[in-house]
Amino acid sequence: MDLRNKTLCASGFHAPERGEIDILDNALIAIGADGKIEAIHRPGDPNYRAVRDAREETGELVSLAPGSYLLPGFVDLHVHAPQYPQLGSALDVPLEIWLQKYTFPLEARYEDLAFARHSYGLLVEDLLANGTTTALYFATIHQEATRALVDICLDKGQRALIGKVAMDNADECPDYYRDASPEAAIEGTRALIDYITVHPENGEARVLPVVTPRFIPSCTDATLEGLGAIARECGCHVQTHCSESDWAHGYVLSRHGATDAEMLDRFGLLGRRSVLAHANFLTADDMERVRVREAAVAHCPLSNVYFANAVFPLLAALEKGLHVGLGTDISGGPSASMLENCRGAILMSRALEAGVDPNLDDRARATFGPAQIDFRDAFYIATTGGGVALDLPVGQFKPGYLFDAIVIDTKAQKGSVRLFDEFDAGEQILQKIINTASKPNIASTWVGGLNVRLS
Ligand code: GUN
Ligand code: FE
Repeated sequence: MDLRNKTLCASGFHAPERGEIDILDNALIAIGADGKIEAIHRPGDPNYRAVRDAREETGELVSLAPGSYLLPGFVDLHVHAPQYPQLGSALDVPLEIWLQKYTFPLEARYEDLAFARHSYGLLVEDLLANGTTTALYFATIHQEATRALVDICLDKGQRALIGKVAMDNADECPDYYRDASPEAAIEGTRALIDYITVHPENGEARVLPVVTPRFIPSCTDATLEGLGAIARECGCHVQTHCSESDWAHGYVLSRHGATDAEMLDRFGLLGRRSVLAHANFLTADDMERVRVREAAVAHCPLSNVYFANAVFPLLAALEKGLHVGLGTDISGGPSASMLENCRGAILMSRALEAGVDPNLDDRARATFGPAQIDFRDAFYIATTGGGVALDLPVGQFKPGYLFDAIVIDTKAQKGSVRLFDEFDAGEQILQKIINTASKPNIASTWVGGLNVRLS
């Protein structure tokens, strides 16, 4: 059911500040005609009873069933939309081989518009069913297929930020899949920005354009400079990969004698609306640069297990005050579920702190220092952190924020959450949701107060 002009009575959780969970207990959330939260009334507020009675009277009150919990929708900060057919496969080789052997051939297929429509339609429906209400998408180099992704997101109601991938370096990109020239990469980017900006169905700006140099190795300097100029001019978002693996990090050091973060900054691609995927090998100076520029990191814990050669120091980045969100990196990461990526973030943070070599004694094994995060931090980066990274009013329940939300039905028979009244209350319920919920538990998904689920 759509919730615009309705008031939802719900219990649930959100994380306005890192490390703190705000528990909603039968809160009344009033949603406006524009899909934004107008007000939140909690039991104990002086007018709670009056508001509730009035909305009930006019038939504008909607209540969640007991055992159902409201969460902000997930913000997936790094998705390669065209790689969905490859999800869960092609995980046996390092990044630089994976790109040439599997990924570029697959992405080249999106020249075929019918194939693109089919694949993108499935992806967007599946992500909504997984509770992802906002996604930051890399598409391909193709204009028509990328426009189709825009149309599909608008049609199915997902909030999306979409970039035509720019990649024109003939040394790193194959003949069959690359922008013909810097001009082609730059003009293609402009054309997509125009398409999204004036799209007749995009009056609420639910889809936004993104300047998307794939990563420095696949772009010429001329393209990176041109894209930096577009980003400055249009003030739109920027996304790219940054210091992901030993190879990717080393390539930029040897081509430019500087790190990814330094070079992106020089090209004008490191700003408040820039999202750097992975960023595993940021130096201390790089981290400071990213912080000062107020750019963000898309942490992709599952993908990093396969392709990064390292674990991103999430706790350190959060403690330094960097903006960090969570990304599935479909299909570098083999799961489309943000919940599974929350778990991945927690697990890998523990492995980083404890070390992993059983042949070493505990002190020699644990050389990294503090790195553990918990379910609160994982939930924070999957919701609030993503909203902050994108500079969008999503990921939290606050007046003025968009009502992008999901319902977790903890009683779903086919689901995987089992609560026990004797043991489970308060934050413990959220902990169990983050650690055990699965798709059958995700009962509803709203974007801007509109129901965006098939069933
Ligand atoms: N670096 C450049 N392209 C890609 C990609 O598609 N996935 C990942 N994980 N890293 C990349
Ligand atoms: Fe990626």
